[in-house]
Amino acid sequence: MQQQDGVRGLRSHDHQIPDAVAEVFRHGWADTGLSPRPLPGAAWAAKRRAALSERFPGERIVIPSGGIKTRSNDFDYAFRPHSAYIHLTAEQGTRAVPDSVLVFEPTGHGHEVTLFTRPRSPRDAGPHGAELYSDRRHGEFWVGRRRTLTETAGALGVEAVSRDHLERALAGGVPTRAVRGEDPVVDALVAPSALADTELLAFLAEQRLVKDAWEIEQVRAAVQHTVAGFHDVAAELPYAMRVERGERWVEGTFNRRARMEGYGLGFETIAAAGAHACVLHWMHNDGPVRDGELLLLDAGVEADSFYTGDVTRTLPVGGRFTDVQRRVYELVFAAQSAGIAALRPGAPYGAFHDAATRVIAEGLDAWGLRPGGDAVTHEPALYRRYTVCGTGHMLGLDCHDCAAARSETYAQGVLQEGHVLTVEPGLYFQADDLTIPQELRGIGVRIEDDFLITADGAECLSSGLPRGADDIEAWMGALR
Ligand code: GLY
Ligand code: MN
Repeated sequence: MQQQDGVRGLRSHDHQIPDAVAEVFRHGWADTGLSPRPLPGAAWAAKRRAALSERFPGERIVIPSGGIKTRSNDFDYAFRPHSAYIHLTAEQGTRAVPDSVLVFEPTGHGHEVTLFTRPRSPRDAGPHGAELYSDRRHGEFWVGRRRTLTETAGALGVEAVSRDHLERALAGGVPTRAVRGEDPVVDALVAPSALADTELLAFLAEQRLVKDAWEIEQVRAAVQHTVAGFHDVAAELPYAMRVERGERWVEGTFNRRARMEGYGLGFETIAAAGAHACVLHWMHNDGPVRDGELLLLDAGVEADSFYTGDVTRTLPVGGRFTDVQRRVYELVFAAQSAGIAALRPGAPYGAFHDAATRVIAEGLDAWGLRPGGDAVTHEPALYRRYTVCGTGHMLGLDCHDCAAARSETYAQGVLQEGHVLTVEPGLYFQADDLTIPQELRGIGVRIEDDFLITADGAECLSSGLPRGADDIEAWMGALR
């Protein structure tokens, strides 16, 4: 609940609402009911619910959407439901209702699924009568129209009842598994079981490893919007060079595209110019964008379906790489190309990382860069000083998708048709690294594309952007 003071949730800057005024709110509203229509992904979500039901027979399963997170005082962050909840409902963007809970109640032959949610704010004198105009978090005059319960049932294809009945539904001695940490009522009423809840989380994550046809369409759209955002940024670089906080201009340019085309961002935009590119998740974005330096932009549009893209390009701000920048860029490009060539169904998941890392290690060795000196046996892992992180990850509803999957199905598993993942090697030469020549210090390069594993290889979903150094220069030249 939101912390509210005094009568009907009034804040210090609100006026009191006398009973006579409250009475006036209760009358004279037209019926604005909509005919229930299924969400575009509803049939796919039904299949996922059936698979979950089959995996845990005889047990109650509780999947909360999560609630609104406070930004400060009485302002909140935009609501984004838990990914497992999205996967099992196919809920869309601004229609998602905070504090909803999907409950799978075991029956003799499977489960009955009910959504406990918040219906429209009533316009009469019921128990929630004042919500309409005085509840800043849930009142429709504050946050907009929700669906009626009938509309919700029609949209999602599950029975929908008021969240007021949730406590009763979670009572009784039924063995229960829940996604925890998202809903205080669920956490209070469902006894934790570390093993059972971890198994549930792993199943929910592994269920998302192989994308179905509808999900592939969603990721494809998210990546296309992401590519459009990169084109916007490239066109804005001349202006970004002129303003003091050019990185913010870059961020804002990409973010405008994200809000135009999708729900928003899959993660905070990384707009890292100059040596900031050596900070993997540089999100301060408060630096200048200077001619002669590189700009590393790592960003993703989250579509209205909540699937996201995740792409990185490292661009020469003035349109041309210097010799040393190009040398670093081309080594990362060669590493990414080797990683991409290792993508095929049946390949160990780690193969693309190993292939990319080997190219980097051999390249750096040829430059005479040997972390630890000549005395140590040189294996690719040692070069982590300059590569820092892994070469990619699964992508989908989360940027780092399926994170709760077991190691044997993800990191130690094999690639399968329908997996979607990034390949994103990088080299990060810190400005204060005394083990490297001066000319390399402060250069950071990452190249990241998104791939769908197909029946016989991989399809690049982000091929709408140039990747090689010459193509990048030609593209930027054409924009000038
Ligand atoms: N794009 C951010 C990351 O993959 O970590
Ligand atoms: Mn990534």
